Amino acid sequence: MAKDFSLMEDSNRSSNPSIHSLSDPSRRRVLQGGLAAAVSGLFAPLASLAQTAPAAPMRYSGKLGFVGVSVATTDTVTVPMGYTAEVLYRWGDAVGIAGNLPAYKPDATNTAAEQAAQAGMHHDGIHYFPLESGSGGNRRGLLAMNHEYVDDGLLHTDGMRTWSAEKVAKSQAAHGVSVVEVAQTAQGWQVVRPSRYARRITAATPMRIAGPAAGHAMMRTAADPEGVRVLGTMNNCAHGFTPWGTYLTCEENFINYFAAGDNPDAHARRWGARKETPYRWAEFDERFDMTRHPNEFNRFGWVVEIDPTDPTSTPIKRTALGRAAHEGATVTTSKDGRAVVYMGEDARFEYIYKFVSRDRIRPGGAAANRDLLDHGTLYVARFDAGGRGEWIELAAGKGPLTAAAGFATQGDVVIKARQASDLLGATKMDRPEWIAVDPNTAEVYCTLTNNSERGREGRPGVDAANPRADNTFGAIIRWKEDGDTAATRFAWDHFVLAGDPANTAANKQGNIRGDVFGSPDGIWVDSRSIVWIQTDVSTSALNRGDYARTGNNMMLAADPSTGEIRRFLTGPNGCEITGVIATPDLRTMFVNIQHPGEPGSERSDPDRPTAVSTWPDGARPRSATIVIRRNDGGIIGT
Ligand code: FEO
Ligand code: CA
Ligand code: CA
Ligand code: CA
Repeated sequence: MAKDFSLMEDSNRSSNPSIHSLSDPSRRRVLQGGLAAAVSGLFAPLASLAQTAPAAPMRYSGKLGFVGVSVATTDTVTVPMGYTAEVLYRWGDAVGIAGNLPAYKPDATNTAAEQAAQAGMHHDGIHYFPLESGSGGNRRGLLAMNHEYVDDGLLHTDGMRTWSAEKVAKSQAAHGVSVVEVAQTAQGWQVVRPSRYARRITAATPMRIAGPAAGHAMMRTAADPEGVRVLGTMNNCAHGFTPWGTYLTCEENFINYFAAGDNPDAHARRWGARKETPYRWAEFDERFDMTRHPNEFNRFGWVVEIDPTDPTSTPIKRTALGRAAHEGATVTTSKDGRAVVYMGEDARFEYIYKFVSRDRIRPGGAAANRDLLDHGTLYVARFDAGGRGEWIELAAGKGPLTAAAGFATQGDVVIKARQASDLLGATKMDRPEWIAVDPNTAEVYCTLTNNSERGREGRPGVDAANPRADNTFGAIIRWKEDGDTAATRFAWDHFVLAGDPANTAANKQGNIRGDVFGSPDGIWVDSRSIVWIQTDVSTSALNRGDYARTGNNMMLAADPSTGEIRRFLTGPNGCEITGVIATPDLRTMFVNIQHPGEPGSERSDPDRPTAVSTWPDGARPRSATIVIRRNDGGIIGT
């Protein structure tokens, strides 16, 4: 998310130098040759991307078989001709817990207890778990999804004009994760209610802490002197899913929930701690007051593993994967069957991480792999000039990560992963968001959403991987590991530099081969290697300035074999498009529409809840999961 509460995280003041000096030949090319030359073209099919984007529409051969949709500023979801989008699961819809099916109240008078049994706000990362093997799995499954944050202006009848423990509890209940059973019926796809799988996980759900940080002194609090148990998860942005059937939810801008007081220490400052908290939980829930409970914030910023098939299971924070403002956690496997997890940290000038499990994935599902993510090796990425890169190990005692430097144990390393990465000379990135792995080629795509601070006085300058100052449009970087996903070296290029060819600034025109877009965020590569790209232009920038011509947030499809990017969907006013998954047969696609109606201030006026949008009900706007089908039942996108 991009907050307009002046809380956009930007706390990396490490001296960790840019390794790309002016004498670096690739940087010189960027400076002299402009954007086209910045594309390394290492990956053969995309060498042609080094050409300037075509001025006129042109035909491409390839996998994309739909008629692209136009830029739009309409308060609706638009999909290509021959497709239908229907609303499936909105904020406030009952999740489906037997005997607890509270109806949504359109005036925002639902209680905190009711909200805890309803869909949360701000749907984000999502995965579909088939409930049957074979073709039945395409018609019945579980959706696990994140509810990233809330708009308190819509959540409560009078917004934040008054404030109370009940409002804090409702806000916490509108965060977290939903697990819903969905099925294709004669009336289309529907949420199954009641369902024995239905579950809400919130910012108050008991969780276990596992891995090297469990029990660490920095994880202990008055309420949990052993440092092994914590209540809740929040700001769950993107996600991951494992080959053994579990869901990973990732804690992103957790720092925004903590009130740091006037004098946060150096550790807290490195994690962005501030006095202000837009959510105001600390006023009625003291664990979010860092002046009283300075360690509570160390218990957030983790990847949380959830078994979606067992609503009684305890979610587990997997600390071996490191602590970060985690956007997501994308899992693939190594050739010898270990889990490899890619993670971006969406904050300005933060890092990209990889975790490789010590053990191989065992057959037998979640039960057989219960502790797999507790043991392994954590790395941080350094992108070098010339399209090469290296994963640097984050291990206590290795290199500069000494006891004297504050890294006596691996617990120290994972809790202070940012500080450790600073010492290792990792590359400061332009806000890494989602990461996706092409299942056919093992190429890895990461959206670098934007970074308007890049190149500003006193802030890091451009480098090979982040080649544009005042980077308002973002890019998609791509890498391929040397030989195996567990390797420590890789080759990289830019899949695309987003932009608007009509922008008068040369470094904002980008090199898109196809439809214009900016601020890529969600990304998923399906089983055909079609790359689905979702955008999150913040509402403070949407349809003005650099984004005056790019319309509402959207989803596009890219064909890596041609480099073409074609717009597939546009969203209603004030929304972000985030979260996409399809059934295994690719005939049903689920997409999340986040925060329709969000104004440029990023908090709605409770007196005018419909000022920006009335989607999807013609009333108070509601984040929602939509279902996309081809009218002829065919495969989506081709
Ligand atoms: Fe929650 Fe980085 O987007
Ligand atoms: Ca958002
Ligand atoms: Ca974003
Ligand atoms: Ca995101």
